[in-house]
Amino acid sequence: MKNIYFLLLLFLIFTCENINNMSLVTIEKQFFGETLDGNEIYEYILKNEKGMEVSVINYGGIITSWKAKDRDDNYQDIVLGFDNINDYETKNPYFGALIGRYGNRIAKGKFSIDDKNYTLATNNDENHLHGGLKGFDKVIWNIEEIFHESSASLVLKYISSDMEEGYPGNLNVKVIYTLNNNDELIVKYEADTDKTTIVNLTQHSYFNLSGDFNQDILNHEVKINADSFLPVDSTLIPTGEKREVFDTPFDFLQPKKIGRDIEMDNEQINYGNGYDHCWVLNKHTDELQFVASAYDDSSGRLLEVYSNQPGIQFYTGNFLDGSLKSKYEGNYKFRSGFCFETQNFPNSPNEHSFPSASLRPGEKYLTQTKFKFSVK
Ligand code: BGC
Repeated sequence: MKNIYFLLLLFLIFTCENINNMSLVTIEKQFFGETLDGNEIYEYILKNEKGMEVSVINYGGIITSWKAKDRDDNYQDIVLGFDNINDYETKNPYFGALIGRYGNRIAKGKFSIDDKNYTLATNNDENHLHGGLKGFDKVIWNIEEIFHESSASLVLKYISSDMEEGYPGNLNVKVIYTLNNNDELIVKYEADTDKTTIVNLTQHSYFNLSGDFNQDILNHEVKINADSFLPVDSTLIPTGEKREVFDTPFDFLQPKKIGRDIEMDNEQINYGNGYDHCWVLNKHTDELQFVASAYDDSSGRLLEVYSNQPGIQFYTGNFLDGSLKSKYEGNYKFRSGFCFETQNFPNSPNEHSFPSASLRPGEKYLTQTKFKFSVK
């Protein structure tokens, strides 16, 4: 008899966890298109009770659209992207994508682990960028839907095989996107390996909080919780120095318009053609902490980012040049989007004073970033 009660209890717990219509956050799945080599791509639309919508495709785990309300309750898309799969395959400057195995640059595509040398593709002039020729932004992820009481998740899984793109070890990767009713999207990254390897996963959405992609992002007010940043050389590889931001264009400790200092005659700004640097976050701990925010006064939208990562690459869309067609009207102009890429430091595998990016068998890579929206 006891057993029957126990089974009944298990059944009830299981049902509550999984029934779609008990969750106030829903997921809709629709066909998005077919890749050039014939894979069917689907878009999963997470929608919360208030009306926020985040759409993700199984190609690259890309966030294709993210609708957030302005201060008058108008919902608008606030991330750059394309309206078709083939543009994502052939010309995507990482709009919305999951990045791996190593987000950001590795000098000359070379690193070593336990005295063994590895060579990766040099797909960014002489350096390696964002995982190589076919990084995690270009692979097909397996997606599962999970419903909770007041949130819903997409669980994306991918197995990157030993020596894929030159990286050692079979890497099991799981990325969980969870949308809740507080207008927060939580992105959890998990990975394990069977050989020592390096990992640095991030999310590469380009935000334009105005919802009007014909406007640049220079009026957004940005705050970054960092007393120092990592200066780079002319190929955007950190020099190894951690430089204080005080009295430099890199000081975002108090909210500041992106455009205020971006045209200053400063060597670091010149190398990035704007901001394209990693900031060293204050008080880095294993807990989520405030990392950065961006506020657009024209719409009232405020984005706050929390993470347990040591750094954030703040990139101001300096390589957008008007050649890419928007998913709406027009083309994406210079600095029409910015990225908040929470991550470990660029080139960490070659810079021993930076936090380690290695993952050994038996260890678990676990990081988390939360994007929270509100209006002012
Ligand atoms: C990098 C930029 C690069 C961009 C690609 C950013 O993470 O820091 O230098 O051009 O990604 O879209």
